[in-house]
Amino acid sequence: MKLFSSAGLLAFLYVIGCNVLPAAAIDLDPTQPGALYSIRNAAKTVAKDMVAMYANQDAGGTHVISGIPGLLTYPPYYWWEAGAMFGSLIEYWYYTNDSTYNDMVRDGILFQVGEKGNLMPANQSKDEGNDDQLFWAFAVMSAAELGFENPTDPKQPGWLAIAQSVMNQLISRWDTTQCSGGLKWQIYQWLDGYNYKNTAANGGMFQLGARLAMYTGNATYAEWATKAFDWLVQSPLLTKDWQVYDGTNSLAGCKDADQLQWTYNYGIMLGGAAYMYNYTNGSSLWADRLSGFLNHTPVFFPKAQNNVMVEVACEITQKCDVDQWSFKAYLSRWLAISAQLAPFTAPQIMPMLQHSATAAAKQCSGGDSGTQCGSRWFYEQYDGNGGVGQQMSALNVISANMIAHVQPPFNAKNGGSSQGNPAAGTGDDNPPTTVVFEPMGTGDKAGAAILTILVLGTWMGGAWWMVS
Ligand SMILES: *[C@@H]1O[C@H](CO)[C@@H](O)[C@H](O)[C@H]1NC(C)=O
Ligand SMILES: *[C@@H]1O[C@H](CO)[C@@H](O)[C@H](O)[C@H]1NC(C)=O
Ligand SMILES: *[C@@H]1O[C@H](CO)[C@@H](O)[C@H](O)[C@H]1NC(C)=O
Ligand SMILES: *[C@@H]1O[C@H](CO)[C@@H](O)[C@H](O)[C@H]1NC(C)=O
Ligand SMILES: *[C@@H]1O[C@H](CO)[C@@H](O)[C@H](O)[C@H]1NC(C)=O
Repeated sequence: MKLFSSAGLLAFLYVIGCNVLPAAAIDLDPTQPGALYSIRNAAKTVAKDMVAMYANQDAGGTHVISGIPGLLTYPPYYWWEAGAMFGSLIEYWYYTNDSTYNDMVRDGILFQVGEKGNLMPANQSKDEGNDDQLFWAFAVMSAAELGFENPTDPKQPGWLAIAQSVMNQLISRWDTTQCSGGLKWQIYQWLDGYNYKNTAANGGMFQLGARLAMYTGNATYAEWATKAFDWLVQSPLLTKDWQVYDGTNSLAGCKDADQLQWTYNYGIMLGGAAYMYNYTNGSSLWADRLSGFLNHTPVFFPKAQNNVMVEVACEITQKCDVDQWSFKAYLSRWLAISAQLAPFTAPQIMPMLQHSATAAAKQCSGGDSGTQCGSRWFYEQYDGNGGVGQQMSALNVISANMIAHVQPPFNAKNGGSSQGNPAAGTGDDNPPTTVVFEPMGTGDKAGAAILTILVLGTWMGGAWWMVS
């Protein structure tokens, strides 16, 4: 059949591409032979749309930041989510070897490391919690582990030193005045949630400690990781069979837990357990704990949604906030880490990541680009609800499928080159204990970043039964 001249064919294709087909979408099947190429391309497309929400590209290909480096537009995005985004971009580079964003990422992180190199920038004291600081710490820890280019200015602290600073700060905030230990959610007492002890903060300390122990070989970090873990075990936040709840009121003696279950809390615990498993040379203690967390993750892959990853506490009703839309990113990342550092879990994990990546890619069919990702991966196409968190979740679940094809993390003994400082965060670079920034008005006080609790009042009756 010869219908078109080549010019006519081009015009026809142009019409099809631009006007007729409603959406581009991304075709991806990570189980196919030769899928590496398509995983990389899919990740590249999704990353580009994510970066566009932070920076624009000028004609010379340079990324032009419209606001303050290292920050996403506030509102709606809090400080922590930018840290999580930079972590995802570092991992994106590691998975794909695409260094397009590396300079932008390094500059953004270093701008936000703060006046004392301790991830306590004065501007953020209006809403920085322990878990917020931790997500930035995870990003710099990834930078150290994955061999991301070190800061070029010798006056800047190394990635490792920044992570060590956060760990030392967490150690100094360990609170024995309530519930015999544990970290409070908040750093600053003027923020709502100061009397909430949560999984993200304590599990985050556990995971960061485990990673620092792996990287440096310093057993003190593993001891603190274990201490945070043990505190969680005796609290109502972890059940005997390794379900993970969100947080507990320390004014009421940490007796009951908010039992909402979130992908990111599972990701944090599972990731930490995978590092500890590997650090302890495959101990059965950590194998059992890791398996325990992993065996509960199917709750986030419901049959009714075709076994695709779902933020069950809020997604189906479209009630997730901007923080929560990003949570699937972290479960994806740390499931991949588990498959890598605890290879016995890979057969259970990889099919979950493959299946959800295919689904996530398929619904990246929205926005001006035609490839923006929506929020619900069990829909066949873009559901009209995009954002940085949605984009990051899709990016992470897609790129996580590269995990079997990349080098395991570096450490100080096998080629890791990040500059450390075990005393960071303890002396002159200790965080301030007094107000350094005018607290926001009460209207803004709820600003404490990773909001999983404030919605409880309305959800306790409605949503939590789905996950309990
Ligand atoms: C990764 O990228 C760098 C620089 O862009 C290049 O030199 C190197 O060969 C690439 N490695 C692989 C495995 O593709
Ligand atoms: C803090 O806020 C000021 C005023 O908006 C801004 O000029 C500065 O760059 C900010 N610093 C950081 C680290 O975000
Ligand atoms: C190990 O880490 C602890 C906790 O930060 C620190 O006090 C100690 O100096 C470190 N030891 C070494 C040998 O680096
Ligand atoms: C793991 O094995 C190595 C090599 O045998 C050993 O040096 C190290 O101490 C072990 N680690 C732990 C935490 O037992
Ligand atoms: C630790 O992780 C490395 C890198 O993935 C892997 O080769 C090794 O088998 C893991 N150790 C154990 C005990 O599974």
